[in-house]
Amino acid sequence: MDKKPSVWTSNRFWRRSATWVTGVSAVLLILLTFDTMAQMKMGTEEDIKNKIDRRIPSPVVINYKIDYQLNRRRGHEVPIIGGMDANGKSKYEEKEKFFGRDDWSEEEARALIHKGKLTIQAKNCMDCHTLLGNGAYYAPDLTKAWLDPTWDTLAPAYNGKEYAIKEFLKNPPAMAMHERKMPNLGITDEEAKAVVAYLKFMSAIDTNGFPRNFGKIKGAVDARK
Ligand code: HEC
Repeated sequence: MDKKPSVWTSNRFWRRSATWVTGVSAVLLILLTFDTMAQMKMGTEEDIKNKIDRRIPSPVVINYKIDYQLNRRRGHEVPIIGGMDANGKSKYEEKEKFFGRDDWSEEEARALIHKGKLTIQAKNCMDCHTLLGNGAYYAPDLTKAWLDPTWDTLAPAYNGKEYAIKEFLKNPPAMAMHERKMPNLGITDEEAKAVVAYLKFMSAIDTNGFPRNFGKIKGAVDARK
């Protein structure tokens, strides 16, 4: 009997398959890594001037009005920077004063946002909050906190949303919005200002609609009324 053995019992077949699967996966991972690196590259002031969408915009985005609108094609909300055109894309036109100015240079804005990031790290905000999904779940995710409509309600009394958030950060219990309160962390005026810049910048990052349902669940921390 010279019946040919089944291919499934062949060592050679399995060895080849393993080599191919490993090889193809490695190539795919390398390609995906480069794609991710490109997507995560921070945009520049030039990109904004030329109306080029970047997932992470230039720090000068703090000079612009930032909105959050449902994108039907993608099925979730996306940040809209400087007004929206007829196709639901950012216009990069409408500016908005941030602490009295709408001409923060790339360098100045970057330095301010960096200081905000250092403050957030030094004060361990992630003990309670999440930023881009990282951290703890005691308090709301801060990724889109700048867009929380609560601030729009408070803005007139504080002469602007950025001032309202700054005052909140300097003494949260005095402006408590929920039963679960944020403690006073001894944040200085300068630090609070920098944190607000960081929050505004972060809200302009296209996170594929994360956190999901932001502002849509009644009773949630950032529920839109
Ligand atoms: C001990 C836990 C705790 C820490 C630490 C903490 N927070 Fe909070 N934070 C809260 C709670 C609870 C709330 C909700 C309070 C409220 O609405 O009155 C909150 C609310 C906020 C809000 C408003 C959120 C929104 O969607 O409008 C911001 C902004 C904020 N925190 C920023 C910060 C920053 C920045 C830090 C670090 C410097 C920080 N928090 C550290 C507990 C904390």
